[in-house]
Amino acid sequence: MVVAQEPQLVQRWASVHKKIKMKNTVITNLSNSEKLAKKLSKKLSIPYFQTKLNNFPDGEIYLQFTKSVKNKHLIICQTFQPNPNQSLQQIIFAAKNAKELGVKKITLVAPYLGFMRQDKRFHAGENISANIMAELLSKYTDKLITIDPHLHRIRKMNWVFKNKAVALTSNPVIADYIQKNFKNEVIIGPDWESYQWAQRIAKRISVMSTVLRKVRLSSRKVESKMVNPIEIKNKNVIIVDDIISTGHTIMEAAKKAKKLKAKSITAICIHGLFVEGAIKKMKAKGVKQIICTNTIEKPQSKIDITSLLAEELKK
Ligand code: R5P
Repeated sequence: MVVAQEPQLVQRWASVHKKIKMKNTVITNLSNSEKLAKKLSKKLSIPYFQTKLNNFPDGEIYLQFTKSVKNKHLIICQTFQPNPNQSLQQIIFAAKNAKELGVKKITLVAPYLGFMRQDKRFHAGENISANIMAELLSKYTDKLITIDPHLHRIRKMNWVFKNKAVALTSNPVIADYIQKNFKNEVIIGPDWESYQWAQRIAKRISVMSTVLRKVRLSSRKVESKMVNPIEIKNKNVIIVDDIISTGHTIMEAAKKAKKLKAKSITAICIHGLFVEGAIKKMKAKGVKQIICTNTIEKPQSKIDITSLLAEELKK
């Protein structure tokens, strides 16, 4: 009898503990993640407050918290798009301000973590943006939670982040979305790095997948070759990648799928940057649907990652 009650007691204690932990927590957003911050505030039942952001007449940043953060656990929501440089600056100013105002702990929720692709000195004299960003965030915040960061040459978050940095994956929610909305589909990763999304998502829902090998000819031109050929003819092809920026990587993969007589072509990504008219260009190349998660809020954000973040924040 007593033994049967134990798991229930443990569960109850865990839930009380979470509530106590959350009691002292407040959430705000900077310029990019208002919707997400408000959703998290609701899901976690924690107070939301607005951070006023403005520019002085000469263009310098003006920032003001509208509630006290003294002795609080402050969650700052700020994804790195649009305006990645400004996004980073706002985080540093907000975090430093919070520290001076006596905050207890700062957790940064940055669902799209910018600067990760410039992870080496590709040409002499270049800066390594990923290192600089990580050093700044490690100095001014206590914990980082992000989604599918671009881990390429930097393979683990703790290679560059000194504090706790949690990288969640949106694979389960993307897999669910595909399962609910597609039939007769195959998944293609447009380059070898994309296996971590394309192949893993395909495995979760038991559909065929392959990745392409991308040969980058210039910053805007890439060419693709299929590594392990799979049947594409008459299939609904879903190209899955972490980031769509200019859309060139997707367009190359779409070209391949079209050549192999795909029935339809859809592009799904985690982080939809969609710069330089990417949506229009991809559609013109035969990509019927373009879908992304809401790590960056876009009209194409049909896949919600809020629950993933909420679960992590409750821990
Ligand atoms: C690169 O390594 C990433 O995984 C994406 O494939 C890339 O950032 C997409 O960029 P674009 O849309 O400009 O081709």
